[in-house]
Amino acid sequence: MLGYLFAYNIINRSSQAVPQNKLTPVTPALWSSRFVFIMAAVGSAVGLGNIWKFPYITGENGGGAFVLVYLVCIAIIGLPLMMSEVMLGRRGAKSPIGSMAVVAKAEGRSPHWVGVGIMATLAAFLILSFYSVIAGWTMPYIVSAVSGQFSGISAQSTGALFEDLLASPWQLLMWHSLFMGLTILVSAGGVRHGLENAVTKLMPALFVLLLILVGYAATTGHFGEAVSFLFKPNFSALTAESILVALGHAFFTLSLASGAMMAYGAYLPKNVSIARTAVVVGVMDTCVALLAGLAIFPIVFAHGLAAGEGPGLIFVTLPVAFGQMPGGSFFATLFFVLLLFAAWTSSISMLESLVSYLNEKGISRVTAAIGGGLAAWLVGITTLLSLNVWSDFTPLDMFARFEGKTLFDLYDYLTANIMMPVVALLIALFVGWKVNPEHSKAELGAWHKVWFPVIRYLSPIALLIVFYFNLK
Ligand code: PFF
Repeated sequence: MLGYLFAYNIINRSSQAVPQNKLTPVTPALWSSRFVFIMAAVGSAVGLGNIWKFPYITGENGGGAFVLVYLVCIAIIGLPLMMSEVMLGRRGAKSPIGSMAVVAKAEGRSPHWVGVGIMATLAAFLILSFYSVIAGWTMPYIVSAVSGQFSGISAQSTGALFEDLLASPWQLLMWHSLFMGLTILVSAGGVRHGLENAVTKLMPALFVLLLILVGYAATTGHFGEAVSFLFKPNFSALTAESILVALGHAFFTLSLASGAMMAYGAYLPKNVSIARTAVVVGVMDTCVALLAGLAIFPIVFAHGLAAGEGPGLIFVTLPVAFGQMPGGSFFATLFFVLLLFAAWTSSISMLESLVSYLNEKGISRVTAAIGGGLAAWLVGITTLLSLNVWSDFTPLDMFARFEGKTLFDLYDYLTANIMMPVVALLIALFVGWKVNPEHSKAELGAWHKVWFPVIRYLSPIALLIVFYFNLK
């Protein structure tokens, strides 16, 4: 796989030696089929958000009621928004910034709408900076799994292992750098080929492995407890803030409000149904998150661990399960390798918002990928330090909402709870009120009838209600 990516990168570099007219925008190559687009979009959507973040925020926010709100957010805001973004991307056929400019102009609207593309690209950049640090954690876990370190390990020992990793800035820096390097590599080589190959084989493998893990979790004797934790709503555990977290996560997990889906939509052939494709992507992404929950919580309960453990949840619980199951080292290796790949296919799509924009501005793909990736890598170092050396640095303590939040917590909060919902609201208002419905109908076909009232009224109202209760 890696060899293939290197080879591809080199071939592509040599093809870029041919000078290009900087003023002519490069027509994006189209995905080779609907299936490949679905796989690329699923590759972007399925990542740490599903397997790392969903279980831990569900644990922190009390389970069932949170999951229900999250599912509602996916259905009434996430899916219509995904259709909107793919539609805007396909119509504009440019970077998220470029596509917003093109469509706003075509609709005779203010050029300021381009600001939505800029904010989305900024959100993607910021997410990439910390995403790479977390994705880096999977690598030492692969090393431990291969060396059989998990066999028979206790929950205390996995906790200590995780703490040791976080306490070591140099180790974190090494893995963060390696992961960002991998992201830059595919991005520089041209997303389509590198990604097509990766996602069409690895995504199905991850799915099967999760099913195996759920099968194992079902034997722990705590499966019923996990099912009721995940699916029996206890509304007393729900706060206005947890609703905002569920909403933010709906965007994060579907790669929305950050340009990724718009950037990929630009490569989507005209004859593909946007709505059907979005539904497939949304359903697959949700299934992976729920499967991850069903694999993890039985183990959490079986070992008396805390559901609200926080970001370390899967890194502390899953090795215990692997350590006890037959063939555990093999499955553990496979799991962390697949998680690494899932994160990789997501991070590539994050970088794509910025790279496609810089590319439009005449900067070569290789330079744009390296420049954008290195900048995100630098910002990522501040996340990495906030896990250890700067763990007491909580610069926004003067605001009650941000009290006690480290830089990493702040980046996460800023992107998922502020930037993404704002971008989402603006996109809903744009396509619902500023784009001529006849034009969106031409893109969405029969689905327009359902999509239009939802994106015009329901999604913005739901978003405004969540904002209102959070700002109150
Ligand atoms: N959807 C990815 C995940 O769940 O891990 C995260 C993500 C990818 C967010 C791409 C934003 C983005 F543009």
